[in-house]
Amino acid sequence: MIEIHHEVAGFRARLDRARASGARVGLVPTMGALHDGHLSLVAEAKARARFVAATIFVNPTQFGPGEDLARYPRDLDRDVALLARVGCDAVLAPPVEQIYPPGERTRVSVGELGDTLCGPHRPGHFEGVATVVTKLFAIAGEHTAVFGRKDYQQLAIIRRLAIDLLLPVTVVGAPTVRDPDGLAMSSRNAYLSPEDRCRALSLSAGLRAAHALFVAGERRASALREAAAGPVRRAATSVDYVDVAEPDTLRVHDDDAVVGARALIAIAARVGATRLIDNVVAGEEGSP
Ligand code: PAF
Repeated sequence: MIEIHHEVAGFRARLDRARASGARVGLVPTMGALHDGHLSLVAEAKARARFVAATIFVNPTQFGPGEDLARYPRDLDRDVALLARVGCDAVLAPPVEQIYPPGERTRVSVGELGDTLCGPHRPGHFEGVATVVTKLFAIAGEHTAVFGRKDYQQLAIIRRLAIDLLLPVTVVGAPTVRDPDGLAMSSRNAYLSPEDRCRALSLSAGLRAAHALFVAGERRASALREAAAGPVRRAATSVDYVDVAEPDTLRVHDDDAVVGARALIAIAARVGATRLIDNVVAGEEGSP
C-alpha cells in the first residue's frame, strides 16, 4: 500500500525507518502529470533500491515569468494511483510552504553547466531546479536518485551538484521513453493539439537524421547540426536552439569543430505555444 505524505518531517522519518531496516532508498523527483517515462524511472529505482519513493511538487522557482506554472497539469489522485501500480512505496506531495518556508532566501547557483543550451533561454530555471533538488536530496538522506535523460542538461547539473555539495546521493540517468512514433514523452505533450503533435515529431526526426549521419562517420559539427535542424525549422513555430555539444561539459561546438567519439545533439523548439526539448548522445545511445 503506497503511503502519501504531505509533511516533509513524516516523509523524512519514513525514509530513515526504511534505511534502519536495511533497505536502500530510491528516489524519483517529479512535478507530477506522470506518464510512462516517469514510471520507467520508478522501475529503474526499484532495480537499485528496496524502498522507492517519489516526490510530486510543481516547483515555482524553476518557472520564469510568462511560463506555464499556473496551468501546469496537476492531478494528484491519478499520479498516486499510477505510482502505486508500479510498486512505489511512498510519495511526498508537499504544499509550497513546506519546501520554501516563510522568509526563505537561499538559492543554489549552478555555474557554467547552466550557461549553454536551455540556460540562456530560461534565465533562473536551472537555479530553481538545483535549489529544489538540493532540498529534496536533503530531505531524503542517503539514497539513489533517478532522473530522465530527456532533460539531459538538468541531469548533468544534478550530477554535478551532488558531487560539489558532498551529498550522499547516487544520481542515475535513465533512457528517454518515446511514443511508438518517436515523440519523447513529456508532461507538456498534453498541451499539443493533434496537428501540433505531428509537428512535434520533427524534433525526434531531426535527431534521427543527425544520429544516422554520425553513425555513417560524419564528425563535422556543422553537418550534424544542419541535419538535426532541417526538419525542426520546417515544422516548429520557433526554434530556441539546435546545438551539437560536448556531452560532459555541455560546451557547444562551433560550426568549424569536429566532434569526438560522443556528441550531444540537443534541440529546444516551440510547437504552437508549447516548448519542447529532446536530445541524443550519438556514440553512446541508439537512434531515437
Ligand atoms: O524534471 C522535473 O520534473 C523537475 O525539473 C524536477 C527534477 C522534479 C525538479 O523540480
